[in-house]
Amino acid sequence: MRKQIAAANWKMNLTYQEAENLLDKIVSEQYNLTENQKVIFAVPAPYLDMAEGKIANQAHMFIAAQNVYSKKSGAYTGEISVTMLQSIEVDHAIIGHSERREYFGETNQLLAEKVNICIAADITPIFCCGEALPVREVNQQNSYVSRQLEESLFHLSAQQIEKVVIAYEPVWAIGTGKTASSEQAQEMHAFIRNELATKYGKEVADRISILYGGSVKASNAKEIFSQPDVDGGLVGGASLVAEEFITIIKSLKV
Ligand code: PGA
Repeated sequence: MRKQIAAANWKMNLTYQEAENLLDKIVSEQYNLTENQKVIFAVPAPYLDMAEGKIANQAHMFIAAQNVYSKKSGAYTGEISVTMLQSIEVDHAIIGHSERREYFGETNQLLAEKVNICIAADITPIFCCGEALPVREVNQQNSYVSRQLEESLFHLSAQQIEKVVIAYEPVWAIGTGKTASSEQAQEMHAFIRNELATKYGKEVADRISILYGGSVKASNAKEIFSQPDVDGGLVGGASLVAEEFITIIKSLKV
């Protein structure tokens, strides 16, 4: 059975002290997480080490970087390498968030390189895909997402792709309060799984977690996560509020 995952994406929010407080509150709650469930916190880079310390004794909890560079080391001022993440035991990284694609010009080709370097370093890439509103308005979302998968992931071997977590995040639902309906989410997740099955076979496709992202909150998480091909969520705004994210974690399928 594939993992059910609640992933917090804090983006560029919170001071160090606020981040500590938020993690303390969330981590101190009782969850009874199963082998099949994971909680991931994608925190701003200056807080990775602190966050890693906070979850060190928590089973099923992990820390993620929000981005990583495609090169191992060198003259790339301001960038963060997989080697740096490894050295502080960070084992997940968000790759290709729509904000990185839109504001920082990240292309499918660059993201393929980032996915590769993560996998080589044994860091789980949480690979984001999803269409913007104009694409959905002309009903081209399937071919758009299919191309993202093809150009950034489908060069991987079956063994490698099983290490990837996919997050479907329709850009029109991110930070807008406008969630995809659970039917829309299920429809796209089933499409993505089918694309994976066509390329790698059904067994491999069935082992890959596909998260939904875009205005997930305490009040809609259970409904969205209950869909058969939705394996949890990548959560922005609501992950900054302890009570909200606690409820979201408790909404995961077991
Ligand atoms: P949101 O963001 O939950 O605030 O819509 C999700 C994301 O961008 O990962």
